[in-house]
Amino acid sequence: MSGKKIVVSAGPTVEPIDYVRFISNKSSGKMGYNIAIEAFKRGADVKLISGPVNPIDTDGIDKINIRTNEELKDAIEKEFDDCHALIMSAAPTDYKVRNASDKKIKKDGNNLNLELIENIDILKYFGNKKNKQILIGFAAETDDLIKNAKIKLESKKADYIIANDLKKKGAGFDVDTNIASILSKDKVDKLDLMSKKELANKILDLLV
Ligand code: CTP
Repeated sequence: MSGKKIVVSAGPTVEPIDYVRFISNKSSGKMGYNIAIEAFKRGADVKLISGPVNPIDTDGIDKINIRTNEELKDAIEKEFDDCHALIMSAAPTDYKVRNASDKKIKKDGNNLNLELIENIDILKYFGNKKNKQILIGFAAETDDLIKNAKIKLESKKADYIIANDLKKKGAGFDVDTNIASILSKDKVDKLDLMSKKELANKILDLLV
């Protein structure tokens, strides 16, 4: 993959409620980091754009740290035009808090109602923008895996969707293995349980 620029997003995004509190999700970043590391080993010029995750050794990979969806989108935007592929393994937080406070909100004995507004869909945004880039997205589902993944493939204009059934043992967040199906326009390839490292290489084989 020498001479190929691959942008990989990984981990969760976080959206502030106030100065100390936030909303986020369970993403560990393990899938995205495995993809970035394996692509780097294959000689690719890797840009890893990561939300806050527990430290994972990346041994010299160019890493850009982000927190919010907006920061993730902006960081990808800077790398997108001349990249060969964008692999969206990040789990962007789908909602952000309207009127997040830059101070710590004080308790006053009452409940606190938060209004959550939908965040931009980053993969869809780049799906509409792409010209030559290959876009690979994921689908994290608890129900109707293939049906929902197909909808994501089409609506986000991705070239491939890696679909995960979050409820299957050995798949989902914070484990080192995954059970995935790879969807493209006219094919569904159901894979067995494998390590995230092995799956990372299967995903990179799609690009090759
Ligand atoms: N994604 C994105 N921007 C978002 C949400 C998701 O770019 N705001 C990307 C993810 O990185 C992933 C794909 O879209 O590659 C699917 O994400 P997923 O969480 O499975 O689905 P959503 O699009 O968020 O839809 P839903 O939560 O309704 O399943």
